[in-house]
Amino acid sequence: MRRVEPAAALVGDIAVPGVKGLCQRAALLAAIADGVSEIRGFGHAADTDVALDAVRELGAGVSEPSPGTIRIEGVGLRGLRPPDHPIDCGNAGTLLRLLSGVLAGQEGRFVLTGDEQITSRPHERVAIPLRQMGAEVETTNGSAPVTITGGSLEPTSYVLPVASAQVKSAILLAGLFAHSGPTTVVEPVPTRDHTERMLTSLGVRVRREGSEISVWPVESIPPLDIDIPGDFSSAAPFLVGALLLVGSELRIHDVNLNPTRIGFLDVLERMGARTTVYDRRSSGGELVGSLGIRSSELTATTIESHEVPNVVDELPLFALAASMAHGISRVRGAEELRAKESDRIETTTEALRGLGAHVNAESDGFWVRGVPTRFKGGLVESRGDHRIAMLAGIAGVLSREGVEIDDPDCVAVSFPDFFELLDEVARRDFVPEES
Ligand code: S3P
Repeated sequence: MRRVEPAAALVGDIAVPGVKGLCQRAALLAAIADGVSEIRGFGHAADTDVALDAVRELGAGVSEPSPGTIRIEGVGLRGLRPPDHPIDCGNAGTLLRLLSGVLAGQEGRFVLTGDEQITSRPHERVAIPLRQMGAEVETTNGSAPVTITGGSLEPTSYVLPVASAQVKSAILLAGLFAHSGPTTVVEPVPTRDHTERMLTSLGVRVRREGSEISVWPVESIPPLDIDIPGDFSSAAPFLVGALLLVGSELRIHDVNLNPTRIGFLDVLERMGARTTVYDRRSSGGELVGSLGIRSSELTATTIESHEVPNVVDELPLFALAASMAHGISRVRGAEELRAKESDRIETTTEALRGLGAHVNAESDGFWVRGVPTRFKGGLVESRGDHRIAMLAGIAGVLSREGVEIDDPDCVAVSFPDFFELLDEVARRDFVPEES
């Protein structure tokens, strides 16, 4: 149990852990590279550390010569070998999906498993296209544990039934091992393109034409030399807190601003948020910049289905922001939220309603009646979902009476020091107003 007290404002300069999905992708690609890769700015968290454990168990050498700098000695494109036990992906859905794509091209029989949440999330969406390419993939009731017997792969052309960057990435990674190219994925709606960018920066031939992304096989992968910027999804809770607390002035330094990741920034801007982006630059094929945030009055908006993939991990925070905005906000076409670490339509609604917000679940999203005053406060059960625990922490600083969080430690999945950082920037020299 943890209690987060109300705050007057969020003030200061902060940095957040490196992009989780880039750390995981870099670890996987470094493991099959020729030579020694260096990954700087590695964001240690349960979901990224488990990626390092996995590649170590598969035969890659992993060391950390200085904090946050990871060296990985690759085993070459087809050099991964199955350990004599299942590889535990913990809570990391991205690792499970992407590693499945890589192992489809390796020789041997690999077993992947994970925690209780992961073993009830859908994996057939990855297994189906990998089988189409010639890998043997067995799921357990449609989920992990998964057994993959890889080998020689055919290129494929696959239309994604759901917009998922994880499924797209698994297929593109398997495409590296196909006997010819291209392997093509067609997306119904654009999803995050970290994999395509990282592969391109390594010299792999990748082409996007409209909604089709194609990759060609490679003989080898060169070692990576990469700086990982801060994760926008870890910056987002602070962004929301600073926007909604009058008098806040917060700067978040060196955040990844990949356009397919920052849909939430666009959404907040159309709600009236005053944010500035400065020090823009490009690094390792990704855009990076710093965010300046001032408190702003927000008005309601609707998020339509075509926007969902680029805001998907921020939708619980959208519900929170909408709860304190003027008017009625909606999210439509977000049924994918039900397949995340928890059923986030239910867990978000339950968490915010318990604090006095007016949020209603729908089959494919939720609607929110905003009331621009502080929440009363109360208890939030995180249900073991890191994004719900962080949502509760930010709701705490925005409340009148504080918020108790049951199972707060699950923030370690993506952001182990989240509560400490929140405490550092929260100005508490005030008495919250009654309303
Ligand atoms: C991710 C893609 C998204 C996102 C997840 C990370 C990735 O999942 O929710 O947290 O790194 O590719 P889907 O693509 O399955 O929606």
